[in-house]
Amino acid sequence: MLNIGVIMDSDFNNVEIDLEGRNYSIIIGDNLLDKPEIFNGRDFGRHAIIVTNTTVGKFYLERLRNSLRGKFDEIFDLILPDGESFKNWENLNLIFDALLEKACDRKTTIFALGGGVVGDMAGFAASVYMRGISFVQVPTTLLAQVDSSVGGKTAINHPRGKNMIGTFYQPKLVVCDFSTLSTLPSREFSAGLAEVIKYGVIFDRDFWNWLNSHLSSLIGREPVSLSYAIRRCCEIKASVVRQDEREEGLRAILNFGHTFGHAIEAGMGYGVWLHGEGVSAGMVMAAELSWRLGLVDADFVQLLIALIRRAGLPTKGPVLDANDNAGRYLELMRIDKKSEGGEIRFVLIDGLGKAMVRAAPDSLVRDVIDACCEQV
Ligand code: NAD
Ligand code: GLY
Repeated sequence: MLNIGVIMDSDFNNVEIDLEGRNYSIIIGDNLLDKPEIFNGRDFGRHAIIVTNTTVGKFYLERLRNSLRGKFDEIFDLILPDGESFKNWENLNLIFDALLEKACDRKTTIFALGGGVVGDMAGFAASVYMRGISFVQVPTTLLAQVDSSVGGKTAINHPRGKNMIGTFYQPKLVVCDFSTLSTLPSREFSAGLAEVIKYGVIFDRDFWNWLNSHLSSLIGREPVSLSYAIRRCCEIKASVVRQDEREEGLRAILNFGHTFGHAIEAGMGYGVWLHGEGVSAGMVMAAELSWRLGLVDADFVQLLIALIRRAGLPTKGPVLDANDNAGRYLELMRIDKKSEGGEIRFVLIDGLGKAMVRAAPDSLVRDVIDACCEQV
């Protein structure tokens, strides 16, 4: 049994994750990028390379570089193109090219400055470069602060399937500076809310209730609400990962809405629907399937739709194939990491705050897809 403890560190007000000796902190706060002391007392080696993208780099690269100044012999940076469509081998290779070109040895730390795309790719590169070097997550989207920067999943996409190639590799530190969210476009902020809603539905009825009453202040990016939501999501994620770091069972519940959502992302072409948008329509589909299997009542599905709509997110999936839409979804969903022997396994809701993973008859899934999709 793995031992991840989630405790509040009174000095820094962090969430601490202890994972069998690979413990790390998630520091959550305002303007952390301007507080170089958060990096003090940690051994990150001689070289730092900040991996970011063209959008985030313009806003935050200099601030992070300034905070790291004096702590390394050399600080390099690599600016990747921006977008989900660039989360592939070609761009992953740019990270290896930069590391080798700068003669980075094993005493190098990669700082992933950006959203989930940068974080997943930089984490993947760190996990395999010279068989593993340190990396630090500096997430700058809501989605990355509440989900992708924590828990150690790294990946790139394959044209046939989302996040199909990757590793489990934990960062040394996660720095969630929620002041960076001030520049995040509202469509991206909403996409992050999809994962926030997910945590309430699968794990925490109280958090679900809190979300229903605080959604407006969250959308207004009010710091107290933001920091509470980010903290609670990180705590929930840590407590799931504690029990199942490598997704041999329980961790799959964090993929609520993702089986349908990944099909939407791949089927539409990466980047057309944002990850969080696919997840939100996917959560409605998974809730509808849960209802059709008798696990929840119809009211629950309506409450979920209402909250997702208030968050500015889609409640219907797109039609992926005008001739056989359900068939196309099923084809894409069979290429899912939860599938076993070609059988699709869904994360379903078994009462608010409780999730389970199970298969469902294709005919029922087809009915759900027919009921939950519209032409976009
Ligand atoms: P993203 O990384 O593409 O970022 C969204 C957009 O916002 C990008 O255009 C980015 O440049 C821009 N941006 C980022 N920070 C900004 C800021 N502060 N101000 C202005 N613009 C900013 O997308 P995302 O939603 O952060 O992440 C989605 C990715 O995360 C997907 O690839 C998904 O598969 C992955 N993911 C991984 C995990 C995991 O456990 N590893 C979990 C959930 C999602
Ligand atoms: N976002 C799913 C997971 O980290 O397991």
